[in-house]
Amino acid sequence: MDIEIRTVSEHIYDDVTKLLGRSYGNRDDHYFRQQHSGDPSYSHDRAWVLLEDGKMVSHVLAYDKVMRYGAGRIRFGAIGDVATDPEHRRRGHAAKLLENAVDYMKRNDLPLSLLYTGTQSLYEGAGWHVVPATVLEADVPAEARPGPRAYTVKPFEESQLRLLASYWDQAMSNLVGPLDRSVEYFQRQPSWLRVRGDIEWDVIHRVGHPAGFVRTCVNGETLELLDVCGTSDEVIQVACAWAVRRAVESGCRKIEGRVAPGSILVRELAAFADIRLTTSDSQMMRLNDLEGVLRGALPEFHRRRRHNPLADQPVTLAVGDSAVRLEFPSGTVALGTPEDGDGTLELTDKQFLHMLMGLPGAQEPIAESSLRPSVKSQLSNIFPETGHVFWDADAF
Ligand SMILES: CC(C)(COP(=O)(O)OP(=O)(O)OC[C@H]1O[C@@H](n2cnc3c(N)ncnc32)[C@H](O)[C@@H]1OP(=O)(O)O)[C@@H](O)C(=O)NCCC(=O)NCCS
Repeated sequence: MDIEIRTVSEHIYDDVTKLLGRSYGNRDDHYFRQQHSGDPSYSHDRAWVLLEDGKMVSHVLAYDKVMRYGAGRIRFGAIGDVATDPEHRRRGHAAKLLENAVDYMKRNDLPLSLLYTGTQSLYEGAGWHVVPATVLEADVPAEARPGPRAYTVKPFEESQLRLLASYWDQAMSNLVGPLDRSVEYFQRQPSWLRVRGDIEWDVIHRVGHPAGFVRTCVNGETLELLDVCGTSDEVIQVACAWAVRRAVESGCRKIEGRVAPGSILVRELAAFADIRLTTSDSQMMRLNDLEGVLRGALPEFHRRRRHNPLADQPVTLAVGDSAVRLEFPSGTVALGTPEDGDGTLELTDKQFLHMLMGLPGAQEPIAESSLRPSVKSQLSNIFPETGHVFWDADAF
């Protein structure tokens, strides 16, 4: 069997979308074309096919995206459209393409990778780990209650785009996980988002001026909460009231969406509907480059150091085969090369990813280590249990 891996190009793109359509249960090619052409982080140069004896049988792509890490930003490879022709499965083709994608990410400064799947074993074999995400479910009440007065809600207008993008930037600057959306991304997003279903992008106005937005999608009996952005808690309250109203009017029984645990959104929505928080195991991450991830997170580490600004001894963070020195000069964090005599915190990739993304219980390895108490406190301070969110609007 002759195996070749090739980058996608324009002249084979038709066959690629046909392969994707066939592999995803005869989905319309249009779906993939829309998403690729509408997402500026897609490039043929980051999409690969595997040929078996000259026949195209498998495909994987990596979008080049950036994640907000509070004040920091981490570039990541978003793995998507993983597909093998039904007649050529279980021969290791997808696994080979994933390996190729990992090589690409390592060579091209994509220190982290994120994907969504129901077939975790495929990705576990290639170094990805489940990083549970918080999913909110709410029962839709029989009647919608009005939100605060002084606000009106109107459909999105193109002229509001830059302003809303700047609100988004601000609103996400305290969260871990959301996509860092460029204006261009915002502009082109509706073209492929609408393939997902009946999407509404509603803008909340306070005394005539935009103050936030909410995007929802009606999918059968479920109202999907795609993303919410507000300039104040009250705007979030209006967004929640509006989402519940749309659910009631559309005959939905359930509201569902990925959320940041403990966020204002969760608190406000609880005032309008019965909510439950569950976790989803469909989100997986891969650590491609420890130092690259820490470098991206540094601005947020500096911000977190405000709670514990005193200078302290350095510590080596040893994760899998990599090690980076975290130094704690007064008020900041610096990265360095490990030195003999440093205290060391040893973690698996999965433990590190959970700590990075602020999962509950992820600090346990710090508490259980034999590091000095003050160094433990520094580490707990820069890796707090923030939780994380990657909004459904950005699903790929
Ligand atoms: C999922 C999919 C891409 C796998 O492609 P593939 O080329 O058959 O995968 P591989 O042969 O490289 O599988 C490698 C390992 O992944 C795991 N794996 C692959 N497919 C699996 C499945 N359907 N169920 C459980 N484990 C699976 C196995 O551990 C497998 O090793 P094994 O065959 O030695 O047991 C293919 O089944 C597909 O196109 N499915 C439809 C589209 C889809 O769901 N894509 C994934 C979206 S995240």
